[in-house]
Amino acid sequence: MPPRDTRSVRDYIRTIADFPKEGILFRDVTTLFADARGFRMAVDQLLTPYAGERISKVVGLEARGFILGGAVAHQLSVGFVPIRKKGKLPGAVISEAYALEYGEAVMELHDDALQPGERVLIVDDLLATGGTAAAAIKLCERLGAQIVGCAFVIDLPDLGGRTLLEGLGHDVHALTE
Ligand code: PRP
Ligand code: ADE
Repeated sequence: MPPRDTRSVRDYIRTIADFPKEGILFRDVTTLFADARGFRMAVDQLLTPYAGERISKVVGLEARGFILGGAVAHQLSVGFVPIRKKGKLPGAVISEAYALEYGEAVMELHDDALQPGERVLIVDDLLATGGTAAAAIKLCERLGAQIVGCAFVIDLPDLGGRTLLEGLGHDVHALTE
């Protein structure tokens, strides 16, 4: 018999030094997505805590949150809604600015993408400062949706994202730190 594969989700994530700039250890999930076992494990584990939660939409954050969120939505048999960077969505949008390490960026959501009372699961690959996820939460809440949880593959705890989101009263689920 071949030996049992005991790799966990974190074992499939590659770290690349000095990308996109010197001093950053970039956590690269393309190696996780490329592996059938790793990708399935990640998708299954992202939704485990929300099994009984009556999620009505999965909201994925550009860009890697689209890959994970689409698969999570398929698994839950619910629709998928993208939150995109400024200028990418074709219909009428609502916008939220958020802080980046240098300067500001803007995230957008179609203004008819969620109905009041919808129960939303937010999905992204990585939680760092939490600025991106906090902007996404605001967008969903502006349309009257309820955030059931925020699910990430990776949490970088030193950057404070979990503290920020939990401080706003949200459930944070991460597969690895
Ligand atoms: C990364 C990551 C998250 C965000 C987390 O995306 O995929 O969306 O940063 O950072 P934060 O918690 O400090 O806001 P990035 O902005 O690099 O965009 P991309 O996925 O389009 O490359
Ligand atoms: N987004 C913010 N910090 C990151 C990191 N260290 N690796 C990958 N994506 C990130």
